[in-house]
Amino acid sequence: MPIHASREDLHNPKGLFYEIMDKCFDAAVLVDTDLRIIHHSAGAEELTGIPTQEAAGIHIKDLDPVSDFQKVMRTGQDSHYSFTVVNGHNCIQHLIPIVEQGKVIACLGGILFRNLSFLKKILTEYHDTKEESNFYDSISRTETNYTFDDFITQSPTLLRILDKCRKLAPLKHPVLIIGESGTGKEILASAIHVAGRKNSRAPLVKINCSAIPTDLLESELFGHEKGAFTGAVSSKIGKFELAKNGSILLDEIGEMDPRIQAKLLRVIEEKEFERVGGNRLIPLKARIIASTNKNLYYQCQQGKFRSDLYYRLCTFEINIPPLREHREDIPLILNHYMKKTGLTMRFSPKAMSLLVNYDWPGNVRQLRNVVYSLDILQDREIIGEEVIREALKLEAPRPETKKEEEKMELFQHVASKEKELIIKTLRETNMNVALAARKLNIHRRTLYNKIAKYEINLDRQRRSNENGN
Ligand SMILES: Nc1ncnc2c1ncn2[C@@H]1O[C@H](COP(=O)(O)OP(=O)(O)OP(=O)(O)O)[C@@H](O)[C@H]1O
Ligand SMILES: [Mg+2]
Repeated sequence: MPIHASREDLHNPKGLFYEIMDKCFDAAVLVDTDLRIIHHSAGAEELTGIPTQEAAGIHIKDLDPVSDFQKVMRTGQDSHYSFTVVNGHNCIQHLIPIVEQGKVIACLGGILFRNLSFLKKILTEYHDTKEESNFYDSISRTETNYTFDDFITQSPTLLRILDKCRKLAPLKHPVLIIGESGTGKEILASAIHVAGRKNSRAPLVKINCSAIPTDLLESELFGHEKGAFTGAVSSKIGKFELAKNGSILLDEIGEMDPRIQAKLLRVIEEKEFERVGGNRLIPLKARIIASTNKNLYYQCQQGKFRSDLYYRLCTFEINIPPLREHREDIPLILNHYMKKTGLTMRFSPKAMSLLVNYDWPGNVRQLRNVVYSLDILQDREIIGEEVIREALKLEAPRPETKKEEEKMELFQHVASKEKELIIKTLRETNMNVALAARKLNIHRRTLYNKIAKYEINLDRQRRSNENGN
């Protein structure tokens, strides 16, 4: 439906029109019949990177070469929710003609580019009809995906991991990503998807296997036919179908029920699946990326995860170490998020030392959230240790607590004990890293990382073991 307005309204910065543009859309742009911008909102400034006062007069095709503004003005008909890319941002836009006395005098573009993943989350619950599933599908493609550039690191171990991910990205094999919460598993999964997809519109569909009750998970993954079970009043397309020739991210796969694990194994082996209650075989086109914060190898030993499925998934296993194992990245990631948030304050040496020595149980996500929490202290030039203590919920040092150097000593002491224990276990297992890792109850890759960190020379140890030293 067109909006009825006068030419005056289009040029009145204090009028209701401009206010609506600012407040009702993530971004909005008003374009005249020559396709030149009359006004763009504060949000559009963020979207396009062009200051509002410099936007007037710019041709809309310079910003969005495939836009439908011309068509909307010619036909006088709205263009409903089309998907487009502006300045690298994926957007959903709705174009509405503006009419004065029956004549189109301009066109308003209302644009959504924030929180598209939230909209997608809502749609995952309600994509029963074909139309909704198409919309979901489009949003899956439109949602901002991470790339390798979003994974901030300078740690040699992680740079090697990124390199491995880049190499395996073009292959179609399943990938297993293991790491504690907040270590960046989803960033890597998305980056592998983006780097490996043949078609830029291939979706990455995510599902959290622990968040969905087992009874529902099967139909969420594979879909169901009408009447497949009580309550299946219509047929429903599953995530594997939605992912098409893109990728499906099975998050928290360690929590998957054994019955579904068995079905997933069959799907991986046979490369096809059926909807629940269906009898049509649907080819598996999507790439499977699984992630977990559990030690799946250990889970298999305990009989909690099928080892045949684990061996299918672990051909390409990526182990992301926790942040406390690559502390050199802390200042870098800190700066990255400070810049992103527009914060310019500096940290006192004590504050920085607290940040670097903290163990970060929530990993990079927690570090990012600490930066976000500094947003309200924008007027400070220096962030002192008391702010960081509060953000990290650390107690203030009491007089009798250890000084920084003593703490360092404790840290070194723990490290040297850890190194000793690793060497002892390696010797006991005749330098068999896999066996030693099992005895230490850590993952093999983690043990390799620690061997590298402590510069343990396996050959030398092996020789001295043989010589009985
Ligand atoms: N290496 C990194 N560089 C920059 N940001 C990172 C990095 N790792 C994680 N983050 C930040 O932490 C957030 C959480 O990362 P992500 O969702 O990938 O973690 P996860 O390992 O999947 O955690 P969970 O197991 O809780 O799902 C990201 O949105 C991002 O902001
Ligand atoms: Mg995750």
